[in-house]
Amino acid sequence: MSTLDVVILAAGRGTRMKSQRPKVLHTIGGQSMLQHVVGTARALAPRRIVIVTGFGSDAVRAAAIGDDIAFAAQEPQIGTGHAVQQAVPLLGDDGTTLILNGDVPLIRAETAQRLVQASDGQQLALLTIDLVNPTGYGRILRDALDNTVTGIIEEKDATDSQRAIHETYTGMMAAPTAHLKRWLASLTNDNAQHEYYLTDIVAMAVTDHVPVVGLSTSDSVQVAGVNSPAQLAALERAWQGQVAQALMADGVRLADPGRIDVRGTLTCGTDVEIDVNCVFSGNVTLGNDVHIGANCVIANARIAAGAVVHPFTHIDGEAKGVKVGEGALIGPFSRLRPGADIGTEVHIGNFVEVKNSIVAAGAKANHLAYVGDATVGERVNIGAGSITANYDGVAKHHTTIGAETRVGSNCVLVAPVTLGERSTIGAGSVITKDVPADTLAVARGRQAAIAGWKRPEKN
Ligand code: UD1
Ligand code: CA
Repeated sequence: MSTLDVVILAAGRGTRMKSQRPKVLHTIGGQSMLQHVVGTARALAPRRIVIVTGFGSDAVRAAAIGDDIAFAAQEPQIGTGHAVQQAVPLLGDDGTTLILNGDVPLIRAETAQRLVQASDGQQLALLTIDLVNPTGYGRILRDALDNTVTGIIEEKDATDSQRAIHETYTGMMAAPTAHLKRWLASLTNDNAQHEYYLTDIVAMAVTDHVPVVGLSTSDSVQVAGVNSPAQLAALERAWQGQVAQALMADGVRLADPGRIDVRGTLTCGTDVEIDVNCVFSGNVTLGNDVHIGANCVIANARIAAGAVVHPFTHIDGEAKGVKVGEGALIGPFSRLRPGADIGTEVHIGNFVEVKNSIVAAGAKANHLAYVGDATVGERVNIGAGSITANYDGVAKHHTTIGAETRVGSNCVLVAPVTLGERSTIGAGSVITKDVPADTLAVARGRQAAIAGWKRPEKN
């Protein structure tokens, strides 16, 4: 059983985001910053994860981050030390407490683990970074003789010579929980901001002869906090860069790693090629040899081996998902909506929309069609401009099209209706009754030639 507890500070207001949404619920790569940090915490398999909430507390709790999470409310928000105090009743008396920040989303589990190891159940371990411009950060104070850490001084309380220090505190630490609880109980707010500073525990540790160790990182992305939309966008780019590198390391060929966005999980087989400006959301799986053209937006879909998705295609499976079969050709300019189940070697062409329909192997709808709530048999051909009229204004109805049927151009199939196998529907037909197999159905006004008809003429 682990004796590690993790506290995630997330009570701050995030004023500079200028948003109604609590800062930690803004997203990076389609996941809230808080979810990223919780994911990192979970990777350490701790005994407990406590999130300290304040501003937007209800929204943070409602974000459904998981049943394994405990919450502590901090009201008012009067400092990081006060924030951790609120979590104290939820922490075990033995073991180690790791403190992370909900607005420092890209900290990696390996780094957090190293911090916990540095604490080793008995030392206070601080994650630090040397910054060229340390403005705004707490500075690490060291003993002039033996160079041991003696404290952290906040920017606003620092002297000019302390401000010249480039070694800064990242906001993340690991501490023996029993010591932490004792130190927190003695914090005061006797400082420039009248806040209870968590960082004041460092000097207390020194007084108590508890060793303080600095664990230094050079990776500014892992310790970067988000305070503004510009910083959020910068970390989004950093994250997308990491995702693109990981995909390429797995053999995915990206036309430009700077022009792909993955807002969820993208799983790829071998020899997958992705052209520029594609956006993947939710869970997307691409089989071997899948090619995705430029400017496609694809969410919650499974695309089987050898399928080609041509440019400007929009696929969104939402909760039901979209399936595209092996060797299918989709697009350009196709739209696949929830429940579209596209079979092997099906062709779905430009301006064709498919929703909640099974389209069996070898069927084609190449231009300007709507297929909704339908079962389309093998090798069916749906002509340009033909649609299933699936909605009567009250309810949705089903259309069944038997195998090898050919629907001419500009037909309306008024559901519920069944077209038998190998039937043929004349162009321009409005089909309201079932069509038997192996027949031709024509349902349109007959063409008439009016002999001797004169055009009206102006006088
Ligand atoms: C804090 C550190 C500073 C460090 C910096 C790194 C203190 C006193 N200072 O600065 O040494 O260099 O982080 O970014 O700890 N929070 C609460 N409740 C509060 C105040 C803050 O939950 O009352 C949360 C915030 O939501 C945030 C985190 O604590 O997640 C850090 O707060 P922030 O105000 O960003 O840090 P600073 O106090 O500026
Ligand atoms: Ca602050």
